Amino acid sequence: MTTRQHAIALVTGANKGIGRAAAEQLAALGMTVLVGARNPQRGEPAAAAIRAAGGAAHTLTLDVTDTDTVQTSAQWIDEHFGRLDVLINNAGISGSGQVDPSDAVDQIPSTVELDMVRKVFETNVFGVIAVTHAMLGLLRRSPAPRIVNVASHAASLTLFSDPDGPFAALLPSAAYSPSKSALLSLTVN
Ligand SMILES: NC(=O)c1ccc[n+]([C@@H]2O[C@H](COP(=O)([O-])OP(=O)(O)OC[C@H]3O[C@@H](n4cnc5c(N)ncnc54)[C@H](OP(=O)(O)O)[C@@H]3O)[C@@H](O)[C@H]2O)c1
Repeated sequence: MTTRQHAIALVTGANKGIGRAAAEQLAALGMTVLVGARNPQRGEPAAAAIRAAGGAAHTLTLDVTDTDTVQTSAQWIDEHFGRLDVLINNAGISGSGQVDPSDAVDQIPSTVELDMVRKVFETNVFGVIAVTHAMLGLLRRSPAPRIVNVASHAASLTLFSDPDGPFAALLPSAAYSPSKSALLSLTVN
């Protein structure tokens, strides 16, 4: 059995969308996947589908903005596996109910609601830091740890400021884009 087949991977926000697809693909590679979901009733169908396809998956109740579930998840992983090999910080929100920033008509800087900006940063930035901090001890026990932070093209000042670029027609995104730009600056030493 290879190292990859023994690998333990945690994906936040894995009950749907990109996170679920990532979880399914990691499981197909032979990893044991921990399906992070803030609502376990939404997470368990995703984990069950992976198991039905022959993979190994467990649901973890994990709200990246909730310290208790972050800490409890780290403890559970420690008790069951003693380490973590892959952390994918995928959970994210746009603040507008949809991830596509082109729909973020309420994210014009002069009118955006500050509470919404705070909520987006709580999930997309502070949540990533909190989960990473909680998992670092487990990751450091892995022979080849990996952290993937899911950002976005919306984080690119270059793309957004190019009048001929692909996002030229989009409205400003006062919460989502800055949160993903902040994420790009995060590195772990
Ligand atoms: N879709 C795109 O075109 C696109 C492009 C670039 C980057 N991205 C990024 O890719 C990631 C996934 O996007 P997606 O399109 O798959 O979005 P999605 O379908 O809306 O899925 C987002 C996931 O994050 C979870 N989530 C939200 N807040 C959470 C929290 N506080 N704690 C834990 N989980 C939470 C959601 O859980 P619930 O089901 O409970 O809401 C859901 O599982 C995001 O970081 C997004 O910014 C997306």
